[in-house]
Amino acid sequence: MRFVVHARDSVDSTQTEAQRLATRGAPEGTVVIARHQRAGRGQRGHGWWDDPGDSLLASLLLRPSAPPATAPQLSLMAGLAVADALETVGVDARIRWPNDVLVRERKVCGILAEASSGRAAGGGHRAGDVHHVILGIGINLNQTRFPAALADRATSLRLVTGRVHDRDAILAALLAQIGSRYTTWLAAGFRSLRSDWLAHSLLPGQIVRLPDGTLGAGEDVRDDGVLLARVADGRLVPVVSGRSVEEAPAHVAGG
Ligand code: BTN
Repeated sequence: MRFVVHARDSVDSTQTEAQRLATRGAPEGTVVIARHQRAGRGQRGHGWWDDPGDSLLASLLLRPSAPPATAPQLSLMAGLAVADALETVGVDARIRWPNDVLVRERKVCGILAEASSGRAAGGGHRAGDVHHVILGIGINLNQTRFPAALADRATSLRLVTGRVHDRDAILAALLAQIGSRYTTWLAAGFRSLRSDWLAHSLLPGQIVRLPDGTLGAGEDVRDDGVLLARVADGRLVPVVSGRSVEEAPAHVAGG
């Protein structure tokens, strides 16, 4: 897979910039990175704060020919690729379902997957297929401290390894892993990534909040990427959306 990286100094959000490029027909493999985001976006409408120059802030445009229901699998794939990339610099990271990446129980990376579906103009996609997916990945590289709201649940590669990390080297490792995992996913679906994903995850045992507000214990993920959680009455229920309860309700960023 070929990547073309657009490096910016300061942007509103690399997601928004990638979206603008996607609308103008940018090809799969387009990547936007920035030193700083003025309006970084996190999950569920939250912001994503950064100290300029201390993070890897990247958005990657994919154009899979696949039904929209499969798009969440790409955010699982991205979490696995981040864990793979961190392994190359000696960091043992775990994925907290669906896609936070943690080191020693603190968040080192957040992922935001935004999908758009519909008929692509001349894009060769079937009607109803995903038009494009933008994977937004924020990795804490060289922070030595975080804002008070994040201090007890965020970490950086520098804090866990004791050395400074080069953004471009981490980006290269990340793109290599995404290229490889995405190619596998295109050929054989999430089922081909499932055992590696599980091996890098906090399952079984991760406590998740289900869409109805109750809690469950995550046990497994299915071949289609759906979480299976054990609920109070002993049933194993599929969870397509929901959240980990370890997440704080209002995080600004980095954690
Ligand atoms: C989360 O809330 O955990 C997801 C955070 C995603 C942050 C990344 S940084 C690069 C890209 N641009 C954004 O505005 N957000 C994502």
